[in-house]
Amino acid sequence: SSCGPVLGIESSCDETAAAVLAADGAILAEAVLNQSDHAAFGGVVPEIAARAHLAHLPRLVEGVMRHAGLGFADLAGVAASSGPGLIGGLIVGSGFAKGVALAQRLRFVAVNHLEAHALTARLPGLVEGGAPFPYLLLLVSGGHCQCVAVDGVGRYRRLGGTIDDAVGEAFDKVAKLLGLGWPGGPALERLAAGGDAGRFAFPRPLLGRPGCDFSFSGLKTAVAQMVAGYPAGPLRTQDAADIAASFQRAVADVLADRAGNAMAAFAAAPGPGRLVVAGGVAANATLRAALQAAAAARGFSFVAPPLRLCTDNAVMVAWTGIERLRLGLSDRLDHAPRPRWPL
Ligand code: KG4
Ligand code: ZN
Repeated sequence: SSCGPVLGIESSCDETAAAVLAADGAILAEAVLNQSDHAAFGGVVPEIAARAHLAHLPRLVEGVMRHAGLGFADLAGVAASSGPGLIGGLIVGSGFAKGVALAQRLRFVAVNHLEAHALTARLPGLVEGGAPFPYLLLLVSGGHCQCVAVDGVGRYRRLGGTIDDAVGEAFDKVAKLLGLGWPGGPALERLAAGGDAGRFAFPRPLLGRPGCDFSFSGLKTAVAQMVAGYPAGPLRTQDAADIAASFQRAVADVLADRAGNAMAAFAAAPGPGRLVVAGGVAANATLRAALQAAAAARGFSFVAPPLRLCTDNAVMVAWTGIERLRLGLSDRLDHAPRPRWPL
């Protein structure tokens, strides 16, 4: 069906974001506000996040609409992340989207946040013309860690996922142990740059085992024991850097190994293989390089969206709205947001 511009809204965790995309996927305007309110608590506080979404979303939406040069009446639809995620934020974002849709008689799309990550590689500006189906997705963030075969819109096969912590969660916990603040992933990567990745032989959970599941809690515990048992008081900076680098290397080895198994399973399908990474952890250069090498070793091409489209954003939500509206898919205004919503 025909489709005009779509407004996307993201509020499932601690990013408040809005974006407007043209029907062909061109990004007309985008804005992301990363809530800094949580740093003092060492993690996202759901109640604070929901209130911050409520406080910031109206102005953010106004801003992208003005920047796009559009009024609400010009839109073909409104899409909002409606799960999985923190329920307070989901209620704020989807409620806002439904209000606009109701007032303007627009179609509403309740977007699965994981589907939005999964379909980002299809944005026409990313890979020439957008990645064609099927492709293999490795989603690695603070909340998610899974391998998914993306066969089409709404057609996902979960090949594996974490049996304990998400990989970003492991980065954040290790960063905390090393006194790096929150979120710790980027700081840990900076510290690791000056460290010796070969100094500590941390465990590599599930490495060499069949399947595409992940596990990071044993690795995290090994680092915690190393830090706790460190002789003679506080860590020296060089020791901390060596721990960070050794931890990061262990994660890289595990991700490359698990993605390798996923590619082997995926390659059973005909056609050229493509490995796509998404999620905040995909920002890590060491991990990207390890995954790129693993892809090359199996003859897969490698797609890593720019960082701002890897971390939570509303461009991917609006794009998912466009993909679904094109197929005639939309949702009723009484659609209930879901804290848990597997792909
Ligand atoms: O996708 P994202 O913004 O939010 C969700 O969790 O959905 O991902 C945030 C996660 C955090 O755990 C953060 O520490 C991690 O991504 N992260 C990184 C890096 N940048 C962000 N982890 C490792 N290296 C990085 N450079
Ligand atoms: Zn996400």
